[in-house]
Amino acid sequence: MDNKKIIEVLNKALTEEITALMQYIQHHYLYKGSNAISVRELFKKLSFKEMDHAYALGERIATLGGMPTTRPNPPNVPKKSVDMIKVNLQDEKDAIVAYKEWIKAVDGEGDHTSRNILEDLLADEEEHAAELEALLGD
Ligand SMILES: [Fe+2]
Ligand SMILES: [Fe+2]
Repeated sequence: MDNKKIIEVLNKALTEEITALMQYIQHHYLYKGSNAISVRELFKKLSFKEMDHAYALGERIATLGGMPTTRPNPPNVPKKSVDMIKVNLQDEKDAIVAYKEWIKAVDGEGDHTSRNILEDLLADEEEHAAELEALLGD
């Protein structure tokens, strides 16, 4: 088991999680529209979920002897509110693809604990994508 490689993968995931949580917070502040109350609530709820994901990854990285990153990528904040839902949906879909890759990578290193953590997070991202998709309607 190559801890350095695993830590690198987990830190990539952690970067995406802290980016996602900042983005949901920002969208929560800025979303406008007739359905603003429910959409802003969902964004807020999802920001807390991504925070939980960040904790899970950071704790695992520290357990493996690594340094958890604190640096997000710049959040994507579209001007039009409806685009916020679309951007988040696409990001969740991208996260689903990325988590599947990261699961393979840590599994290849024989780290079943990290794999289990990533699988739990993947299941959550699938739920997030479904919740955002429901907002967009037909
Ligand atoms: Fe997440
Ligand atoms: Fe998510």
